Amino acid sequence: QKGGYPFFMLKEIYEQPDAIRNTIAPRINQELPDFTEDGIDDAIFKDCKRISIVACGTAMHAGMVGKHLIEKKLRIPVHVDCASEFRYKDPIIDEETLTIVLSQSGETIDTLEALKLAKNRGSKVLSIVNVKGSTIARESDYVLYTHAGPEIAVASTKAYTVQVAAMYLIACRIGLVKGLITEHDAKRFMTKLTNASNIVEETLKCADDIKRVADHIKFATDTFYIGRGLDYTMSLEAALKLKEISYVHAEAYAAGELKHGTIALISENVPVIALATQEDVYAKVISNIREVKARGAYVVLVSMDEEVNDPSICDQHIRLPKMDSEFTSFATAVVLQLVAYYTSEAKGLDVDKPRNLAKSVTVE
Ligand code: M6R
Repeated sequence: QKGGYPFFMLKEIYEQPDAIRNTIAPRINQELPDFTEDGIDDAIFKDCKRISIVACGTAMHAGMVGKHLIEKKLRIPVHVDCASEFRYKDPIIDEETLTIVLSQSGETIDTLEALKLAKNRGSKVLSIVNVKGSTIARESDYVLYTHAGPEIAVASTKAYTVQVAAMYLIACRIGLVKGLITEHDAKRFMTKLTNASNIVEETLKCADDIKRVADHIKFATDTFYIGRGLDYTMSLEAALKLKEISYVHAEAYAAGELKHGTIALISENVPVIALATQEDVYAKVISNIREVKARGAYVVLVSMDEEVNDPSICDQHIRLPKMDSEFTSFATAVVLQLVAYYTSEAKGLDVDKPRNLAKSVTVE
């Protein structure tokens, strides 16, 4: 069943190129995103003034990538909430709010209850779900199924990248329907999105370099992921994944926020994994890296630079394939998943079944 891999998680990481292809391809018609086969009515996109995204854990982090994209590209306000907070905070949503719910299992109780609340307030609900016929899928107005196939490992990997892919598709469709992007730009966007599976394949070749990162992290008690913009969003998922399966404490920080307190925790050899894939803030992140490096941090730089041999910047460099900054989420996801995986494996842990966790959280 594990197809020769030692753990399901590794198998599922390597299944990502196909999972992404299977999720995107059926939604492309004449080079444009098209949800006709999914039965999704464009009116929910056309009529919405704002978007509310609700989910838990990794699924919420995929929603955050969606927020980043939609706000940056389309200038439509997007609010992301974890479902357990949304349910109890009297959320500000109405008929003009489109609610997007994400769930791999389609059974997470907080997400389900949040969905019901959103519907009661008159919001249309579009869910992004992996498991066919699950409760969340049945309760939603519209469903966009991801085609990751069954995910067995407790730590979500391929289900996450396909949720991210779904968010790119939705962002592009909303832009088209609302006339916020031209067909020409939408086609270019879709060409780049279609290339995401190749990017993932390419990034998987970094596995040996990442094993060396894990060899350092396995001795750490605290680690930090830093980044700006899309990279900050990816840092949140990176930290969750590392904590979840390797039991190494990890925190995600917006790189510019470090100096407002957290930098006090940086001392000799504390691992800092810095994501620097966003062209517009690249120089700013490098300057944040120098600040932690000067305080003794062990810095792993993840970037598209060809080579970085400057010891004042990093101790290790993970080189990503060259791509547009807007689409680096797929490549960074693979790196962060492999860092967590190899750290857990190096510690001799049961990667697929981390302590205290269940695959599907159906109790409150
Ligand atoms: O099935 P769901 O996507 O609704 O699950 C949500 C979270 O419980 C889940 O993503 C969790 O955070 C993962 N175990 C993280 O790897």
